[in-house]
Amino acid sequence: MSPQIIFFDTKSNWYAKALELRYKILREPLGLEFTEEELMKDEADVHVCAQMGDKVVACLTLTNGGDNTLKIRQVAVDTEHQSKGFGKLLNDAAEEYAVKNGYVELNCHARKTAVPFYQKQGYRVVGDEFTEVTIPHCKMKKSLYEQK
Ligand SMILES: CC(C)(COP(=O)(O)OP(=O)(O)OC[C@H]1O[C@@H](n2cnc3c(N)ncnc32)[C@H](O)[C@@H]1OP(=O)(O)O)[C@@H](O)C(=O)NCCC(=O)NCCS
Repeated sequence: MSPQIIFFDTKSNWYAKALELRYKILREPLGLEFTEEELMKDEADVHVCAQMGDKVVACLTLTNGGDNTLKIRQVAVDTEHQSKGFGKLLNDAAEEYAVKNGYVELNCHARKTAVPFYQKQGYRVVGDEFTEVTIPHCKMKKSLYEQK
């Protein structure tokens, strides 16, 4: 079964399921909870998930970063569905959304362990490594209209 891509906001039932997955994959292993401030930030964002049956198997969140840039954050693929192309599928959906909505750049704060994944999607590291949610991260970006 191949997953369906769904775009939604925080009022949707999909949001609660995506948040559960984000917690399981991104926060629980670090012993961290989402803060109220972080959850409030979600309200202005566009959320995307890959859904199979009634389950969210992968998700990400898109934040308008200003200057026609779009930040990809909270990228999570459920453990048993990793390495099946779902992360790429979601990134492709984000990229299509960015192009349709006039953005010129995608960027993210990538966990160091996920940098090779983003490099495969055409992102490059910019600047120095830094710590976020207690672990090493790199800022990465992908220009959508760069001359090849
Ligand atoms: C990182 C993550 C989003 C990648 O999604 P995924 O569905 O597992 O990856 P895909 O199957 O779409 O992989 C696409 C390509 O990237 C490569 N890739 C994926 N994760 C990788 C990793 N951690 N290191 C090296 N390569 C990786 C795959 O081999 C594949 O390569 P190919 O196109 O040559 O076949 C996912 O594994 C995940 O949620 N990990 C845990 C949470 C996390 O780190 N989130 C990112 C926070 S910034």
